[in-house]
Amino acid sequence: MKYTRKDFPDDFLFGVATSSYQIEGHSFGGAGETQWDTFAATRANVVRAETGAIACDHYHRYEEDLDLVAAAGFDCYRFSTSWARILPHGRGSPNQQGLDFYDRLTDAMLERDLKPCLTLYHWEMPSALVDLGGWRNRDIAKWFGDYTEIIMSCIGDRMFSTAPVNEPWCVAWLGHFTGHHAPGIRDIRATARAMHHVLVGHGTAINIMRGLGLGNLGAICNLEYAMPADNSKAAERASRLYDGIYNRFFLSGMFKGEYPANVLEGIESHLPANWQDDFPVIQAPVDWCGINYYTRKLIGPTSDTWPAYMEVEGHLPKTDLGWEVFPAGLEHLLKIVQHDYTGDLPLYVTENGMANDDIKVGINIDDAARTDYLNTHLDVVQNTLVEGVPVKGYFIWSLLDNYEWSSGYEKRFGIVHVDFETLKRTPKSSYHAIAKALLKA
Ligand code: FCB
Repeated sequence: MKYTRKDFPDDFLFGVATSSYQIEGHSFGGAGETQWDTFAATRANVVRAETGAIACDHYHRYEEDLDLVAAAGFDCYRFSTSWARILPHGRGSPNQQGLDFYDRLTDAMLERDLKPCLTLYHWEMPSALVDLGGWRNRDIAKWFGDYTEIIMSCIGDRMFSTAPVNEPWCVAWLGHFTGHHAPGIRDIRATARAMHHVLVGHGTAINIMRGLGLGNLGAICNLEYAMPADNSKAAERASRLYDGIYNRFFLSGMFKGEYPANVLEGIESHLPANWQDDFPVIQAPVDWCGINYYTRKLIGPTSDTWPAYMEVEGHLPKTDLGWEVFPAGLEHLLKIVQHDYTGDLPLYVTENGMANDDIKVGINIDDAARTDYLNTHLDVVQNTLVEGVPVKGYFIWSLLDNYEWSSGYEKRFGIVHVDFETLKRTPKSSYHAIAKALLKA
């Protein structure tokens, strides 16, 4: 790596991120069916119809995995609890085995001196709640609050930080507009409701946790840097709308108590009645904001129905998922978020990393491209720190190769290789480079 931890402020935290359904093995320990199980069982949704049934078998191998996190010198471990593992039917009686698992997992982090950074919803909606409309149903906010109370009453006081929802844009838009993610709906009204209700769920969970006396609560958004595909006014307008839907809708809701006008043009008639009355909940104060960043998008206009934009292929080097590598976008977004939304609040890069077709050299796995990717993104984090943006930490996605949603097990993001036949873990060259960089004096 180009940097060591000494190049960053003393209180700057380095972490690695994972999520429950992507690594645990959802067929173990009494977890309930999730929207990803049925989405994957539907033709052409997921590569080879793969599911998270076994995933990385982290449910049984978590000690070995946390040993790897600790041995690399990370300060923090970002993980998520699965709603369907804790409440197999989404509501009602909790699954004691699930609560016990997260209790053991938390203690195992603390024993290794790792700060537990929890996300409460990383997309594994219990099927029983999808049957009731999932994020389309306003009651979801209350059910999410109940789930929050159950899990946080068990492990909340041992968390370093907690965020309710991973990436509201993906939840609402990939799940309900493009249909690329579970529950695979393609409907603007469903999308509008999901966009709003996911924020009501966020605020409800924050309020419940405050009520339990818990602190260091945040929000985690995925942001993409939107750029007009050419110099035309039409491309500029399309790109602003993409930015509005992808980035500003959720940030504006949580930090300003309003939705961007260009987004409302397309969704206002589909929002639930009296949506404005929910802003006091949506705006429940948070202590930090996390940004997941991977790429930029070039956006041009189309003559299609709203939002009438399209992604135009760019020519920068691309990762194995076809995402352009554009570190400058992270710098722009950190500055925009601070300037327009969060002011002095601490910011974290809560996910950053790349899918790579890693090369095996003998028993070693060479992922120099990943090390380069991380270096160039840490370069821009350095720039923002120099300019006084309060970035307090950086998390790599991900610890392990894992279930990459609709790409199944085909795309690899880990700094540790997983052989999905034997489940053997092999640290890649990036892992070794990071371990060197993070060595504590
Ligand atoms: C993010 C998700 C994470 C992973 C990475 C590649 O959007 O939070 O689960 O899929 O992308």
